[in-house]
Amino acid sequence: MTKAILRRLVEDAITAPSVHNVQPARWRIEDNSLLLAEDLSRRLAVGDPTGNDAAISLGAAAEALRIAASREGWHVVEERRGLPDLGAGLRAIARYRFDRGADVDPLAGWLGKRASWRGNFLVPTEADRAAVQQFAGADATIVTAPDALALLGREFDAASYGFMRDGAFRGELLGWMRLRRRHPCWARDGLNAEAMALSPVEAIGANLVLGPLFSPLDRLRVAPALLAEGAKVAAAAAVILFHRPVVEAPFESGRHFLRLWLGIERAGMGAAVLAALADDPRAASHVASTHGIAAGQRLVSAFRVGRRSGPGFARARLPIDAVLF
Ligand SMILES: Cc1cc2nc3c(=O)[nH]c(=O)nc-3n(C[C@H](O)[C@H](O)[C@H](O)COP(=O)(O)O)c2cc1C
Repeated sequence: MTKAILRRLVEDAITAPSVHNVQPARWRIEDNSLLLAEDLSRRLAVGDPTGNDAAISLGAAAEALRIAASREGWHVVEERRGLPDLGAGLRAIARYRFDRGADVDPLAGWLGKRASWRGNFLVPTEADRAAVQQFAGADATIVTAPDALALLGREFDAASYGFMRDGAFRGELLGWMRLRRRHPCWARDGLNAEAMALSPVEAIGANLVLGPLFSPLDRLRVAPALLAEGAKVAAAAAVILFHRPVVEAPFESGRHFLRLWLGIERAGMGAAVLAALADDPRAASHVASTHGIAAGQRLVSAFRVGRRSGPGFARARLPIDAVLF
């Protein structure tokens, strides 16, 4: 295993999704191994106080590494014990060693193509709804009925708005938004206007609605309508409710989260994450009971799924030297 290959694998791991695109994964290239660490300065103090979303993001990065390594015939062996104390705002998560003889993961071809699709989807056909059924399984519940999607859309908007009413949450979110192309981090991290499917005018509006105008618009009760995305949920081919065993660590759930998302891409569809449905305890418990999710399962996240209505866009990511330590 050469350093050049290890570096290439880190480049693939960078494509993994992360909450608000904070990219918490840091990597150390060692002799024949990679050390994964969490950059604690990337934690969302308000939006993710327990580190649940950071752990899902790190699990997704670890799975991206595993899938990328398989493409070159390498098995990844994960070690979670005997890790160094890194100090300086870094927490060691795992060390990865490599053995020869892996088969190429069937999802490998989609690693570099996966991206959040926050725009509208094409009007779904019966064939689209049928195609999404392939994802039904022990950890994925598929919702395609129009009235059930409309209800999920309303629940999503209510849950999202509950978070948005917290000024600290909005401030943190705005801090990760890159609303103008000249923002120095537009192409590096966070959520840029293009990724959020906002036109330049809509981006200015978002800045005002989430910033200085929020309180008056909230008092006038017009803010919910301005932030609503429920119509996009109602118009999707499906919502996939992603749930994993309650006892499973979020890091492990993050691996499965990425695999499900790559599978959606392989089916020729796009997806946007609807995390508020899982993060708001009332919404999560109502969604779980409405859709018959077993008591031993935790709703980890949800995806709005459909056929993309336009071309892709450049991925915003830190350059590799910024994630190596
Ligand atoms: C734990 C987690 C939670 C996320 N929550 C949301 C969300 O609530 N809304 C959303 O639009 N995207 C959400 N995402 C998607 C990320 O914002 C996205 O992966 C990131 O911006 C990188 O962009 P990409 O998916 O196009 O590579 C989430 C991703 C993760 C891993």
